[in-house]
Amino acid sequence: MIRSVIRGSGSALPARSVGNAELAKTVDTSDDWIVERTGIRNRYIADDSETTSSLATDAARAALAAAGLDASDIDLIVLATATPDQTFPATATIVQNALGCNGGIAFDVAAVCSGFLYALGTADSMLRTGMAKRALVIGAETFSRIMDWEDRTTCVLFGDGAGAIVLEAVEGEAGDAGVIATKLHADGAHNQLLYVDGGPSTTGTVGKLRMKGREVFRHAVVNLASVLNETLEDAGLAAEDIDWVVPHQANARILDATARKLGLPAEKVIVTVDQHANTSAASVPLAFDVGIRDGRIKPGDLVMFEAMGGGFTWGACLARM
Ligand code: UT7
Repeated sequence: MIRSVIRGSGSALPARSVGNAELAKTVDTSDDWIVERTGIRNRYIADDSETTSSLATDAARAALAAAGLDASDIDLIVLATATPDQTFPATATIVQNALGCNGGIAFDVAAVCSGFLYALGTADSMLRTGMAKRALVIGAETFSRIMDWEDRTTCVLFGDGAGAIVLEAVEGEAGDAGVIATKLHADGAHNQLLYVDGGPSTTGTVGKLRMKGREVFRHAVVNLASVLNETLEDAGLAAEDIDWVVPHQANARILDATARKLGLPAEKVIVTVDQHANTSAASVPLAFDVGIRDGRIKPGDLVMFEAMGGGFTWGACLARM
């Protein structure tokens, strides 16, 4: 059987980091409120020279270096973003051109905070059916560009960044390294709880992010617990088998509640929300890269990726390192 094996990871953050105290100078908030309600202490904000594609390209280069591969080895780029450089072409094609690996497949996936899971599931399917051999799967965002910087209920929550992994199709057996199971869902009935109030075909503007946070929170905990169990069941594995959970980083309280529902100790959850805030599609690969580079995630480990976001969309993926 063909399996999609994670060969390497990389990430990139804007140069400028912004602490809670700095935000409290411009909106009616406080470090205490943000830390207590979200766990966020810091986020990175792109300057004019940093774009979704430039962050994605830096993350992709780091992932290729970690994998010991050249850009020319890549024949598929799937890039998850809700903040593309332009309405079109796909940001994936801009990254492809910057890397100099033109000619393969390159496209964007729009599933907001679950985008990396959707991109991973798509790339895994394409590798296993033989459409490509080596993929860059990227989550990259500049959510600072779609913030209403006067809305304290949203502007303190998000940040910019990018993360990437290299996936390679290899022959293997069940139990070997590689993606084991992926489960994805969407429920468009809730798309007014988390959305952007503009777009090319409606207002002709880019729009700003709007969120009913409390309701999103409630759905997130329920949907994530359910998709995690579904993914484990599909793989014939149990929560105790998981070495690391690499979750979407929206709120430390969601991470705690989800781990509790699964009966997993908090020490098994990779947490970066304190440093990166919510970077939407970038948050899962950013957290994964942190866990790889600090040596916590090791060869042979069983890793559960999970995310939930606007749409609603949500999903989980279980992979052996
Ligand atoms: O990435 C996609 C998925 N997104 C998420 O998963 C986000 C899910 N939601 C959340 O993380 C949380 O709901 C929030 C962090 C957004 C909000 O936390 P909360 O505990 O649900 O607070 P709340 O919305 O119930 O607001 C509590 C109070 C309100 O004041 P009143 O009405 O009780 O007087 C808010 O106006 O906190 C107020 N508030 C703030 N106060 C200081 C809201 N934002 C702020 C702020 N600073 N930045």
